[in-house]
Amino acid sequence: MEFWKVLVVDGDRDVYAVTALTLKRLEFRGKSIRVLGSQTAEGAKSVLNEHPDIALILVDIVMETETAGLDLIKYVRRDAGNAIVQIIIRTSQCGHAPEDRVTIEYEINDYLEKSEITARKLRTTVITALRAYEALATIDDHRRGLKHVIESASHIFRSSSVSDFEKETLSRLASFLHGPGNGPRHSGVFARKDPNGGTAYVTTATGRFKSLEGWKLSQIVDPDMYARIEAHDYSSSYLSVENFRVYGFRLKTGHEVYVILEDVTASSEWKRDLLEAFRLNLGAAVDNFHLYRDLESRQNELVFALGEIAESRSAETGNHVKRVAEIARILALGCGRDENEAEHIRMAASLHDLGKLTIRDEILNKPETLTTDEFEEMKAHSFVGFEMLKSSNRELLKSAARIALEHHENYDGTGYPRGLKGEEIGLASRIVAIADVFDALGNKRVYKEAWEIPAILDYMRSESGKKFDPVLMDVFFSRVEEMNMVRTMYPD
Ligand SMILES: [Fe+2]
Ligand SMILES: [Fe+2]
Repeated sequence: MEFWKVLVVDGDRDVYAVTALTLKRLEFRGKSIRVLGSQTAEGAKSVLNEHPDIALILVDIVMETETAGLDLIKYVRRDAGNAIVQIIIRTSQCGHAPEDRVTIEYEINDYLEKSEITARKLRTTVITALRAYEALATIDDHRRGLKHVIESASHIFRSSSVSDFEKETLSRLASFLHGPGNGPRHSGVFARKDPNGGTAYVTTATGRFKSLEGWKLSQIVDPDMYARIEAHDYSSSYLSVENFRVYGFRLKTGHEVYVILEDVTASSEWKRDLLEAFRLNLGAAVDNFHLYRDLESRQNELVFALGEIAESRSAETGNHVKRVAEIARILALGCGRDENEAEHIRMAASLHDLGKLTIRDEILNKPETLTTDEFEEMKAHSFVGFEMLKSSNRELLKSAARIALEHHENYDGTGYPRGLKGEEIGLASRIVAIADVFDALGNKRVYKEAWEIPAILDYMRSESGKKFDPVLMDVFFSRVEEMNMVRTMYPD
């Protein structure tokens, strides 16, 4: 059973007893009243900390000090930031704190003189206070719920994969319904069925269902429940079965998706409204998410193709772009970037030589050493690549622009085009510089033969701190095996 909690803070123990007795049979909105007590203001603070849902405080002024009650009020409103609890001063020493001044200065809701309080008056006052508390608490609950929903939406759409999206949706929904935390109550499942029929598989699961990912839904629930999940018409309502609530929708791709939530208790009407909105919109949200990811991966393919076109102008470079991109990804992971960032660097790295599109064939494919003028022309590819990419608003192309500009800068400041030094050169550019040289040395070019691995490693080591960032070179040497695998995987 739920209670309204009322806290009596009064140095006189009898006041607590009388109040508890007077409010004993009182009910408001079907809930009775539980009276808590403290004889000091200090003690009241710990009761308040223990019961953050106290609705009303009845407080005397003079207790352990002349102004203990007033100090407590200040603490509640300012330090604890509790603006919704109702506070009523109930005192016999009115001279200590005149009513007008205290009501204005201390954000209290009522001021009573003990001698004037009859049992009936107290009950009326308490009911009025509980009504006010209830209204404020509802508004506060809405405010927090709304904040939660807004934050959730932005979190969910920041997911980088479908599985992240599904996990995020389940956990946000659970914490919205049950409050924060991740107990076994917060359990849910996303299941998906192919357009050509068959059975639904669990794609994502949280809470106590975690271990069920990859299972057939029909293996987890009993046949009767499975039949009901499949047969239900989700267009008009969700399905309530046993302790579960099931939402279902069909994606544009023809897949059927089921979202199964355990122990859904929407405590208030507005939460029920929100769940209904969830039912109506989730299908569209999942569709949009798939569409967005699909678009993004197509865009990435295009970016890669563009990098390959640029490289293909120098006839012998073959899979160079792919290898540099993969090696850059390995180095990025090696220096602590997460999967998303490493993937971002991999994609951006593929455009490092985009500027070569404008370099003349005679220079690009000249077997002999370039003359000084020719070399100057060749060097322009870094700046040209930057110019081609710099005005994009997409993060990926912005990174690519910087890499194009800086991938021939040297750590010691002897590179081109700007002679940047150390960390003036972007991390991704320093990474690509290593990947680019490492790969170029190992493969035949018009102007040189392929080097053997020991010679390459010797050279790389000798350039640590000169051409290359020495910290990244440590990462490089700890991951040489992986990088050699990339070379076998994409040979020329
Ligand atoms: Fe280059
Ligand atoms: Fe290159």
